Amino acid sequence: MMAANGKKIWMDGRLVDFAQAQVHVLNHTLHYGVGVFEGIRAYPTARGGAVFRLKEHVARLIASAKFYHMPIPYSAEEIERAIVETQVANHTLPSYIRPLVYRGEPALGVKNLKGKVSLAIAVIPAKKYLGDGSDLGVRAKISPFRKPHSDALPSFAKAAGNYLSSYLAGADATQDGYDEAILLDQNGYVAEGTGENVFVVRDGTVYTPGLESDILLGITRDTALRIAADLGYPTVQKLISVNELLSADEAFFTGTYAELAPIRAIGHYPIGAAAPGPVTREIMDTYHRALRGEIPKYEEWLAPVPGLARAAPRARS
Ligand SMILES: Cc1ncc(COP(=O)(O)O)c(C=O)c1O
Repeated sequence: MMAANGKKIWMDGRLVDFAQAQVHVLNHTLHYGVGVFEGIRAYPTARGGAVFRLKEHVARLIASAKFYHMPIPYSAEEIERAIVETQVANHTLPSYIRPLVYRGEPALGVKNLKGKVSLAIAVIPAKKYLGDGSDLGVRAKISPFRKPHSDALPSFAKAAGNYLSSYLAGADATQDGYDEAILLDQNGYVAEGTGENVFVVRDGTVYTPGLESDILLGITRDTALRIAADLGYPTVQKLISVNELLSADEAFFTGTYAELAPIRAIGHYPIGAAAPGPVTREIMDTYHRALRGEIPKYEEWLAPVPGLARAAPRARS
């Protein structure tokens, strides 16, 4: 669960106090789910605070908004600057950054395309999200709720309304005592978690579903694919059956908030010998070092935040 608190929220160009960040109860986004958003993280690095893959998140936000007929009245550069400004104003690291594009004025009627399009950016303290706080792996459940087909709700756009199926799947898994749900696509292939992409490892090859499984094309997914390839593991994007998942050597989730979380069991079925398996461990360690600016070739993924604290040097194991 995320702690929803911060100091300041950026709303259409103004930094307002957290408690004053309000919109009208009859706003279009609240009633019909027509809003798009991002989840971004910032971390302490040896050179100060940095937002991870800021450009890619802002590009996805703009693409999602465009698809939903909500042109954002700011350029990519202006949004990036606003995110950094909000991060500085909140002065918390590591943080979770939530930009939201919405129509905030009172306007009932689902076909409304005219209401003012607004942008809000919140920054809240970030914690570990999945599991017991260790890296020993999470228990997931195959959800009875499937991902909506992209003919109905295109999965490439990170739209608020897409999260109804994530919500149902997550509520079901949580009430059954699991850490997370895995949703299948309409054809019964593995799609994704409620807020994560899914990877499996078999015989040293790293597999993950592609867009045809109605997934969000996660930025952490892209990060993990790049790291896995750089480490010398073949990577394959393909349809993944439940059978392939249950019999995998290793499996893990990727997501901005979940980061890279090993999966130790699906339902009653343990995955591999012990989580994290060796390939997951190597990708996860590299990912964590990349986030902290410890690997020069991945520094391009870090957008510096001026004036924020440096990370204390980590003890090497
Ligand atoms: C449904 C869904 N799939 C996958 C992801 C992972 O995407 P990313 O790595 O860009 O955070 C998210 C999180 O944003 C998500 O909500």
